This record gives sequence, structure tokens and C-alpha cells, in this order.
Amino acid sequence: MRPLLLPRLEERLQAVLQRIRSEVHADIGSDHAHLPLHLLASGRVRRCVVVEKTAAPAAVARATLEAFGWLHAAEVRVADGLSGLHPGEVRSVSITGMGAKTVRDILEGRPERLDGVNRLVLQPNDEPSALRRWARERGWHLEDEALLAGYWAYPLLCFVRGEGEDPAYAGHDLELALRFGPQLLSRRDPLLRRTLEAHSGRLERVQVHGNPRTLRELAQVRAALALWD
Ligand SMILES: C[S@@+](CC[C@H](N)C(=O)[O-])C[C@H]1O[C@@H](n2cnc3c(N)ncnc32)[C@H](O)[C@@H]1O
Repeated sequence: MRPLLLPRLEERLQAVLQRIRSEVHADIGSDHAHLPLHLLASGRVRRCVVVEKTAAPAAVARATLEAFGWLHAAEVRVADGLSGLHPGEVRSVSITGMGAKTVRDILEGRPERLDGVNRLVLQPNDEPSALRRWARERGWHLEDEALLAGYWAYPLLCFVRGEGEDPAYAGHDLELALRFGPQLLSRRDPLLRRTLEAHSGRLERVQVHGNPRTLRELAQVRAALALWD
């Protein structure tokens, strides 16, 4: 008999889930497969491809999906990043809970496997400028971005296919927007402000040593904070 209660979905993954609605979705680096499980159970996706780099988390993912009766709608594959997808097979992709550069490397690794994909939902665990730069160079526009409160402030970025300049950056200082997020800056995001203030405080305490990198960083953080004046 099917257990009634699904495992609790972390808030950052709930925010990811709310941004996905797709016939066929792929979650790369799924680990426990909580996100695919909730995507299937909520009806937000009809089929889900679950890709894991190593066998042990893939076995956990398979067991979780089976225990809740959703293995018939999912396929768990052991593969490195996008190489686990067949060309044209999925419409949306999520990659969550890893460093931004790891996420970028996964996207760069097999770019042709993104053919047919029209939405990327990325939730890196650290500063996502590498992803914003990648997207601008590869014809993806920023549709939506957020900072999610949690153990720390988790970034969340949704990209869709777009032509020409990404309008999200219009009117922004490009370097500031790539670093801190054009939409977050435009709407003067309160969590971004608190994060910047905390970072500025840390930098001010060490700037007495006059390290040029610290001083450049502090100038950039102050320029962003000045937008709230
Ligand atoms: C920290 S866990 C995050 C799990 C889940 N996505 C989340 O947000 O809670 C990262 C997972 O990504 C997997 N992973 C890392 N690089 C990968 C790659 N290139 N291809 C597939 N899986 C990968 C790891 O094996 C690990 O299970």
C-alpha cells in the first residue's frame, strides 16, 4: 500500500517546484529524489528523468520513487550531468543544491542535450554570477530570480530561451547586475540588502589591511547598497 505522507520538501526545493510545470522534466544531481517525487505527485510533471553521477544516490532515488509508487513515471539514470539525457527528450531541467560553477560546468558539458529544453530552474548554493554570465552568452534570458531564506540565502534562477539582449539587464550597470542579480536589484530585494550589509560589515573590518581585492569588493558592495538610498 502507498504511504500517504511524502517526505517534507525543503523550502528552497518548494520554491523550485513552484517554477516547474512540464510534460517531461529532468532533475540532474537529484540525490534523494525528493524534488522529482513531489513534481510527479503534485501533477506538475507527467514524466521525470532523474540523473545521478554515482550509483549509491541513484539507488536511494529509485527506492524513494518506488516506495511512493511513482517509479512507473520516472527513470533513474547513473550518468554525468546532461549526458544522462537523450537528445530532445525533456522540456525543462532543474539542477539544485550544488555550487554555481559545478552547475555551470554541467550545463557546458553537453550543451546539445539542452536542445528542446525551454526552461532551466537552477538553485545553486553560492553566488550565481557564473550562471548569469553563461546564460547571457548562450541565449537564455532571466525570467525570474529570487533569494530564498534558509541556512543561508539560497539563490534561485529561472532561464528561458530568448533572442538578443536579455531585457532583464536593461538600465543596469552590467557588472553589478551580473554579480548581484538584475531583478533582485530592480526590486530592491530585502534579503539581498541584508546579505550585502553583512558582507560590507565583514569587508570593512578587514579593509584596514588595504588588500586591493578587498577594496574592490567593498566598492562593488557599496555601489549595490547605494541603490537603496
Ligand atoms: C548536494 S546534492 C543536492 C541534491 C538535491 N539536488 C538537492 O538540492 O537537495 C548534489 C548531488 O548532485 C550529484 N551530482 C554532482 N555532480 C553531478 C553530475 N555532474 N551529474 C549528476 N549528478 C551530479 C551528487 O552525486 C549529489 O547527489
